Amino acid sequence: MGYAITAEAGANIAFIKYWGNRIEGQNLPLNSSISMTLANCITRTTVELSESARADEIVLDGKPAEGKARARTTAFLESVRRLAARKEHALVSSESSFPTDCGIASSASGFAALALAAATAYGLDLQPRELSTIARLGSGSAARSVLGGFVELRHGADHEEAYAQQLAPHTAWLELRDLIVIVSKEEKEVSSAEGHRIAHSSEMLAARLAAVPERAERVRKAIEERSLALLGQAAEEDAFSMHAVMMTSKPHLLYWRSGTLEVIRLVWELRKQNIDSYFTIDAGPNVHVLTTERYLPEVERRVRASLGFRTICDHPGPGARIVERRPE
Ligand code: DP6
Repeated sequence: MGYAITAEAGANIAFIKYWGNRIEGQNLPLNSSISMTLANCITRTTVELSESARADEIVLDGKPAEGKARARTTAFLESVRRLAARKEHALVSSESSFPTDCGIASSASGFAALALAAATAYGLDLQPRELSTIARLGSGSAARSVLGGFVELRHGADHEEAYAQQLAPHTAWLELRDLIVIVSKEEKEVSSAEGHRIAHSSEMLAARLAAVPERAERVRKAIEERSLALLGQAAEEDAFSMHAVMMTSKPHLLYWRSGTLEVIRLVWELRKQNIDSYFTIDAGPNVHVLTTERYLPEVERRVRASLGFRTICDHPGPGARIVERRPE
């Protein structure tokens, strides 16, 4: 058996969303995005190099990867090999802690863990900044999951400049909670990759890009001051702004289900009752409710009792890390 590296990384939830690329190919974002890396929703990935394998062998959540998932992972491994000037194929196995049938994408945690495990296995000793640019090649949002806590992915003119940096560690705001409300567990029909591509056809895109810097400034301030009200207000605005771009893209893209709106309205109702909670929504129908440790039990109870949806609770967590090396 060869040398094997196991790494773990958390998924993340963006307060300022990444939506749209400058040019196709390298996931160079049109705007800077800001997220929180999660502690519970994690992916654990092992990469072992093989002198004899004639192709990469990829097992995702116990099943051999096929089709697009396989092609995406192989292309990613190819870019790591190119950088390391190595040729051996890799045996990759990856498992996520969160149910893969729940509609939460595992690509951010998946590519962050894979970037760290593969870079290490191929002998690259990289700083988080460079590692984040490599993870970005797999999935734009994965660049942010390389770092822990509160993270900004900078829009940059080229590959080296579009890197992620930590704004504050996860320990800076441990009371913050993300209650993920599973409105639908169906796999999305339109991938984020396709969404990024058609974003350019939206009449709303220019307005969104003009508004993001001021909103991002509020999010940075909210993180610094640990203000849920400031963070939540900006996160709701940004989610609506991104979904407006989606809905006005050609062809239109509507990820929401009726349950999505029910959660939005419940969150607003809770706020009226002084139960601090705000929403954000990624490229899917599920809603992330941002709240604090104090209000979480009540928010969770109300979501379950009045709407009956399944929930997953998460909070800020650390960045990608190596958890095992074999042989030691
Ligand atoms: C809506 O291109 O990173 O989550 O690779 O499919 O996970 P996947 O998506 P990616 O786009 C993420 C879009 C987003 C917003 C965000 O996380 O910033």
